[in-house]
Order: sequence, then C-alpha cells, then structure tokens
Amino acid sequence: GSLAEFVVIANRLPVDRFIEPGGGTTWRTSPGGLVTALEPVMRRKGGAWIGWHGAPDEKLKPFDHDGVRLVPVPLSGQEVREYYEGFSNGTLWPLYHDVIAPPEFHREWWDSYVTVNRRFAEKAARVARRNATVWVQDYQLQLVPAMLRDLRPDLRIGFFLHIPFPPRELFSQLPWRRQILEGLMGADLVGFQLPGAAQNFVRLVRERVGHKTHRDTVYLPDGRTVLARSYPISIDAAGFEELARTDAVEARAKEIRQSLGDPKHVLLGIDRLDYTKGLRQRLRAFGELITEGSVDVDDAVFVQVATPSRERVDQYRLLRDDIDRLVGRINGDVGRIGQQPITYLHASYPREEMAALYRAADVMVVTPLRDGMNLVAKEYVACRYDDCGSLVLSEFAGAAAELRSAYRVNPYDINGVKTALLDAMRADDRETARRMKAMRKHVLEHDIDHWASAFIDELTASREKHGKRT
Ligand code: G6P
Repeated sequence: GSLAEFVVIANRLPVDRFIEPGGGTTWRTSPGGLVTALEPVMRRKGGAWIGWHGAPDEKLKPFDHDGVRLVPVPLSGQEVREYYEGFSNGTLWPLYHDVIAPPEFHREWWDSYVTVNRRFAEKAARVARRNATVWVQDYQLQLVPAMLRDLRPDLRIGFFLHIPFPPRELFSQLPWRRQILEGLMGADLVGFQLPGAAQNFVRLVRERVGHKTHRDTVYLPDGRTVLARSYPISIDAAGFEELARTDAVEARAKEIRQSLGDPKHVLLGIDRLDYTKGLRQRLRAFGELITEGSVDVDDAVFVQVATPSRERVDQYRLLRDDIDRLVGRINGDVGRIGQQPITYLHASYPREEMAALYRAADVMVVTPLRDGMNLVAKEYVACRYDDCGSLVLSEFAGAAAELRSAYRVNPYDINGVKTALLDAMRADDRETARRMKAMRKHVLEHDIDHWASAFIDELTASREKHGKRT
C-alpha cells in the first residue's frame, strides 16, 4: 500500500470485531474518543493506525475502515501473557498507579515487552513516509520511540502517556528504569496528563541518566532536544451532549429511573473493574450512610457499572471476588424486599446506554485511588446540558485539576467520602447548577480536538524549530 504521512501506534486498534447475527464478522469503531479526534487528521493526511486487533495467535492483513488504514500487529498467546497481561498490566500498570497493587518484576516479561515493542517499531518504520509524523500512545509502548528513531531518523516522533507517571521513588524500583527512560527519549515531544508527571520525567532523566535539562527540555549529547509537557486528554464533548439530548436516550433515562423505583437520589459509578478505581471505598461509604440512617434505603440507589477488564490477570480476579462479596454483604445487611441499595452490573454497554445512565444519575461518584485523567467524569459533565447533577471526584484523578467545582474527596478517607455524598445529595438546585455550569464550560472548551491539536501543533512546531534532519 501507499506510505502514510501520519501514523498512530497504540497497543490496540481503534476497532472491535463484531460477529453479525448471520455469523459473519465485521469491525466496528470502538467507543474511545481518541479515534474520533484523530480521524479528521488521519483522513486529511493519509493516516495509518498500527495496533493489536485483540486476538492471540492470529495474523491479519492491513485493511481500511472508515477511511483510516488499520495495520494489525500479531501477538502470540505467550506474548499476550508476558507482554500484555504481564509486563504492561502486572508490572507497569500497578507501578505507575502508586503501587496500589504490588507490581511483579519478571525478566521473561521484560524480554517479551522488548520483543513486542520492536515489532511495533518495525511495522511503523515500514508504513511511514519520509519525514512523516508518528504518534506513539501509552505505557505498553514506551520503548518504541527510541527503537523507531534508530530505524528512521527522518521521522518526527511524539509520545503520549495516558496514565500517571510515577514519582522517582516508585519509578526507581523498576529494574529496567534506564531502558524505559531511554525509550521515551527517542521522541521529540513526550506528553503527560499533568505538569507534575512531566516534571517527574525530566528530573529522572537528569538524575538517573545524567542529561542536561532546563525546565521542560532535555538536552541530549548528540544535540537533539526532547520536550516534556502536559496535555490533559478529554472527550468528544459536543458528541456526548448531542447523544444525551436525543429522545431515545431521554426515554431510556426515564425508564432506568422507573426500574430503580424512582428514588429521590440515583448515584452512579461507571468504571473498568480495576483496583485503581476505589470501588470498595465508595461502596463502603454508601453502605455506611444507609446503615447509620443518614440516608433512607427507600430514598437512594447506587448503580455501579463495572466493565470487565484484564480478566486473566490475578489482581483483577481477586478484585472481582472482593467486590462481589462486598456488594452482596451490603445488600444483604441493609436491603429490604424489593429494595436493594446497590445495583451492581458487571458488563460493558454501548455509548447510548452510558449516556442514558449519565442522564438518569443525580450524583456521579468517581473515586479512583489514582487515575491518569478519568474520562467518565468528563462524559457525565458533557451529558448534563440542563445543569442538574453533581459530581463527586477524587483528588487523585487527573480530572480533578480541571473540574474544580466537583465535590472533591480523598477516597481513602471514608468519612470524607460520606460527607461529600451527603453534601451532593442535599445541595439545592442553585448550588448544583452553579457547579455544573462551571464544569461544563471547561469540558466543552477543552475537548478531545483541543487536546489532539495542541499536541500535534507542538510536535509540528518543534520540527520547524529544529529543522528536518535529512
Ligand atoms: C487505560 C489505558 C489504555 C487501555 C485501556 C483499556 O485507559 O490507558 O491504554 O487501552 O485502559 O485497557 P485494555 O488493557 O483493555 O486495553
């Protein structure tokens, strides 16, 4: 095929395989905002997206989908276990999220991470046109920038980390810390969710690798520079609002409230079933409010949607059992016939159903123990076009830096979470509207297009500043 001027590399392709009723398979664009944001750029520039298609031991040819060229990267069953479930999600994920679960360090996992990163880099080197721009995404692929630069010094390379970048004390546990830093420094621009993460990175580079740095710039011995900056990611806010305003979603939201017995307060949590999300803390807080009588069991229902995720990783299995037990215990202790305080759904839903849930909820409860951004909080805000609804938000979510009018909580402080839930439930309409208006303004102005163009513009500008090297 023809070579691409703009290439995205991510662990996953932006499509899901869908089995049709007749038995045939097609691909559907997955709900994430990233594709939506990048689609226009991809079309304009003849873009390609390199990623894994989600099935082990399966080789697929590149194909076109909605005007975007998709280039599948195969992973063997063993690589799925060692690179994806192992090093990416058993080592890096917990290490980068405050070691909430203990990270495991295995040399075979690391070897597999190196092998798979090289495969992605080699694929990109074959797909990218001369002087093209390549944008590498997230923690699964931190070695790709340097590997790709080795193969193709003509390319302009950007990297964005969607999850937190840990403080030095934690990052330094990693036996391969130096290789990861070197890998990232292959990029011209390294993007993070928060300024503090960019600062962690620059400081580590200075102290561990010994390069000269000044503010957000790293000076490499060969004269090249690497810029480390923050670009808080966002959502397709207008798209979400539009969806939320449709009659179908509005009708479904009503139906949801009725099925719940039309209680005074509907509280909602929507998360991947992940130990970083603080599910236990929020359910306990809600359970205690009912037990002690601060909230009447007839007045409030907590709907918790937990999307299945990384189900073959041990820590995720343990978590699932833990939450199953906790929900059962709370409902058993404080429920009555026909009145279950927690409605727990272990399932994933399409965007329309999510929008209906957001519309049905009076209080959105987002209490991660650590989270790079948390887009659920922004989606909720985007759907509340009538300025009703309150957001309870952990200070440890990246989104807390922007959504300043949320009810802010430390999720480890159960009493604090209880107080915030009560405040949110008891607030009058004026106060609720005041907070929601401010948050909506921010989210609508800082949407996913804003994010993507800020990053791409800087990446392009740095090319002009330093000149093409060929
Ligand atoms: C987080 C990560 C993404 C990842 C997603 C889903 O948002 O930052 O890179 O794709 O979780 O996890 P999964 O392991 O299913 O891709």
